[in-house]
Amino acid sequence: MSKLWGGRFAKATDALVHEFNASLRFDVRLAAQDIVGSQAWARGLVGAGVLTQEEADTIIAGLEQVGDELANGRFQFDPGDEDIHTAVERRLTEIVGAVGGKLHTGRSRNDQVATDFRLWLLDAIDQVAAMLTDLQRALVASAEANLNLPMPGYTHLQHAQPVTWGHWVLSHFWPLVRDQERLAQVRQRTAVLPLGSGALAGTAFPIDRQALAHELGFTAISQNSLDGVSDRDFAADFLYAATMIGLHLSRLSEQLILFSSSEFGFVRLDDGYSTGSSLMPQKKNPDTLELTRGKSGRLLGNLVGLLTTLKGLPSSYDKDLQEDKEPVFDAFDTLSQIIPIMAGLLRTLQLRPENMAKQLEPNLLATDLADYLVKRGVPFRQAHHLVGEVVQLAENRGVPLTELTLADLQSVSEKFGEEATAVFDIETSLSSRAIIGGTAPQALQAQLAAARQQLG
Ligand code: ARG
Repeated sequence: MSKLWGGRFAKATDALVHEFNASLRFDVRLAAQDIVGSQAWARGLVGAGVLTQEEADTIIAGLEQVGDELANGRFQFDPGDEDIHTAVERRLTEIVGAVGGKLHTGRSRNDQVATDFRLWLLDAIDQVAAMLTDLQRALVASAEANLNLPMPGYTHLQHAQPVTWGHWVLSHFWPLVRDQERLAQVRQRTAVLPLGSGALAGTAFPIDRQALAHELGFTAISQNSLDGVSDRDFAADFLYAATMIGLHLSRLSEQLILFSSSEFGFVRLDDGYSTGSSLMPQKKNPDTLELTRGKSGRLLGNLVGLLTTLKGLPSSYDKDLQEDKEPVFDAFDTLSQIIPIMAGLLRTLQLRPENMAKQLEPNLLATDLADYLVKRGVPFRQAHHLVGEVVQLAENRGVPLTELTLADLQSVSEKFGEEATAVFDIETSLSSRAIIGGTAPQALQAQLAAARQQLG
């Protein structure tokens, strides 16, 4: 096996070491970016007076052919190819001859890989953002279809106050808005060009880095070459953003798993999005949701793994940095599965309002009864206590709150008047929460409009 860097070596690399050192297995995913980045570099070398226009044209056309071979699977890898960068350069030189050996002037794989990786991630971020937008549309559509459908709201997974399906489903929309913001920030920090940093000290040829950045779609250039070759903040930022997306989908999954259980029965998963049991014929399992919940662990693992790799590295490039790509690729692949699946699951989800209605029991209105006393001048803390006594009275009698008579209520406090029992109405309770962000119909209309506006 011949190595691009073999000049000073008297002996071949140990086979296990070659395997260990090689990254081709996974960085082959950077092929398209390596070609584009190399073509831009060739143009830069013309500007710097290193290549003639003719030499650059030959190299650029040769790279085009290498790119085609890689894209259509006809590229013949050589056992000596260490990574995608060496494979491309080796093949280029086979195609165009010795002039191919001029391409790497002033460039190092250190600034090359950082450039390729950023280019790849810019595209990946755009894809994730688009998938997220589609999921957000599915959530909005679900909210729209059943905006005012009453259901019990929970805190501590205990009956709390009535809310609506639209309100609940939109509570999973806004976290994704924040995820989109995070992705946009990651994108900005990723769009910084390291090319021109060389191995660590900067290129000794007068390359126009601004022009390179512009050509490759970067919005800024790195200002310190040592930092340029070793900065992987953008990868960690992406993994954090990915982890947060995973976490949000995990929480949504968890709740839908509960809601689809026999105990809740609020929703029914479409057959296309659930699976059966090999033993129990009656089972319909929410495997898709459970796997989505489980994948959040893997996303977090990728983040922690990379952060641990980066911690304690001396400045500039160290081979540890080769460990940056697999967690990012894995996070992207994971998101590319779970986001579209969640969107499809939501679009086919059936609601079971009859089971939601069964759970709309009077205790959910205890706060409304306390609010009623407040409107009659009772300090809230005292009202809270009095309604607590009313709840206890009903519990002792074994009847729902709504079955207490006015006399019962007045036995606890004479502040209760004739109209007190009028608060025992789900619709009244819902519509009283008309504040921005609340569960009243007009507040939900406004929230839906705000959500749609986010989607542009
Ligand atoms: N495959 C390497 C990586 O992914 C490319 C950079 C290698 N640089 C070096 N000096 N060995 O990081």
